[in-house]
Amino acid sequence: MNTFIYSTTRASAVAVGLVLATAVLGLTGATNAEAGTVSKLAFGKTPDGKTVDLYVLKNGRLTVKVMTYGAIITSIETPDRDGELDDVVLGFDDLNGYLGTHPYFGATVGRVANRIAKGKFTLNGKEYTLAANNGPNALHGGLKGFDKVVWKAEELESGDGPSVRMSYVSPDGEEGYPGNLTVSVLFTVTADDKLEIKYTAETDKATPVNLSNHSYFNLGGKHGDSIRGHQVTLYASNYTPVDDALIPTGEIAPVAETTFDLRKPSQLGFLISLLDNTPQGFDHNFVLDKPKGRMGLAARVFDPKSGREMTVSTTEPGVQFYTGNFLDGTNKGKAGVAYKQHQALCLETQHFPDSINQPNFPSTVLEPGQKYTQTTVFAFSVK
Ligand code: GLA
Repeated sequence: MNTFIYSTTRASAVAVGLVLATAVLGLTGATNAEAGTVSKLAFGKTPDGKTVDLYVLKNGRLTVKVMTYGAIITSIETPDRDGELDDVVLGFDDLNGYLGTHPYFGATVGRVANRIAKGKFTLNGKEYTLAANNGPNALHGGLKGFDKVVWKAEELESGDGPSVRMSYVSPDGEEGYPGNLTVSVLFTVTADDKLEIKYTAETDKATPVNLSNHSYFNLGGKHGDSIRGHQVTLYASNYTPVDDALIPTGEIAPVAETTFDLRKPSQLGFLISLLDNTPQGFDHNFVLDKPKGRMGLAARVFDPKSGREMTVSTTEPGVQFYTGNFLDGTNKGKAGVAYKQHQALCLETQHFPDSINQPNFPSTVLEPGQKYTQTTVFAFSVK
C-alpha cells in the first residue's frame, strides 16, 4: 500500500478539494473546477535504499501518475464514452514490478532514445563506445539508462495546470556518453485533458541527446485485450526503413502505396497482418510532415470499442511507432494481466534512430551553451 506522505498543508488542500487547492497551489486564471491538484505518495525504495515518490496530477477528467524512479508514467486514467474511468497505459501496480525486467513501460528514455548501431559513434574526431544492451547495439540509453535512475522532483504551477518537474544530472561518461548532462522533464495535466511533457537538457561537452517517453497505450483500458482493433493515423508521408537489427538503412522512403501509409485512419490488425517482419508488427520511425522544429500533429489513435481517442503532438521530427511486438506474456502487469504481443502501442516522439551515425538525418548533437528542448502533448477525448 502507498503511504500518504504529503505535507499537511498540501494534504488538507487535497482533502478539502479544489477550492482550497487553488489557493494553496497559487493557480491563477482558472475557475476552481479547472484548477487541478497535485499530490505526492511514497512508492517504495530502490534496492540501494533510495526513496521513490509517486506524483498524482489531476485536472479536467484526466489523472496521470508519474514516479521519480525512471521518471516513469505509471498510470493515465481517462473516461470512455460512457464516462467510465480506466487506466490506458501498461505498467505495474507497485514499484517492485518496475524494478524487475520490463520493456520500458512508461519510462523516460535517454540519454539517447532508440538504437545506436554497434553502440559506437564518432564526435569531434573522437570515437565513443557505449554500453551495448540490444545485441551489438545500444538501445534507449544503455544498461542503466534514464529509465533506471531516481530523479529529483519538484512540484510547480506551470501556468497550464498542476505540474511536477523531474530532474537528473547524467555524469560525464555515464553509459559511455560524453559530458555532464543536466536534464529536466516537466509533466503537466491541463484542464482540457492533455498531458504535456516538456524536456530540456544542457551539457558541458558535445553529446548526442534524444529524449522520449515510452508509454504503452491501450485505449481499451487495463483489461483491454489487443490494439488490433484500434484505428491509427500517422501524419507522416515518409519513414526510415530498417535492416533486420532495426537499424535505419539511412533512406527516407515515401509511405505511399506501402503498408506504412497510415495517413488515413487505419485498423491496426489488418495492417499488421500484411507485414512480414519478425516479430510481426510496426517498429518503425515515421518522418512527420509538420513544420520542422514546430509543434504539430504526429498521430491520432481511436478505439471504436471504448470511444477513447488520443492525439499526439510534438516538436520532434519523428515518431517511433511500436505495436508491442516483443511482448510475449512474460510481464504480468496491472491487475495480474499477462501482457501479450500487440497488447499496446507506443508513440515515441523523437529524433530518428541512429541519427548520430546518419549524416542525412536531423542532428541529435547538443553542444555546450546550447539548450535542448522537446515538447510532446498527449490529448484525450471521446467520440
Ligand atoms: C522501442 C524499440 C523496440 C523495442 C522497444 C522496447 O520501441 O523500437 O524495438 O526495443 O523499444 O522493447
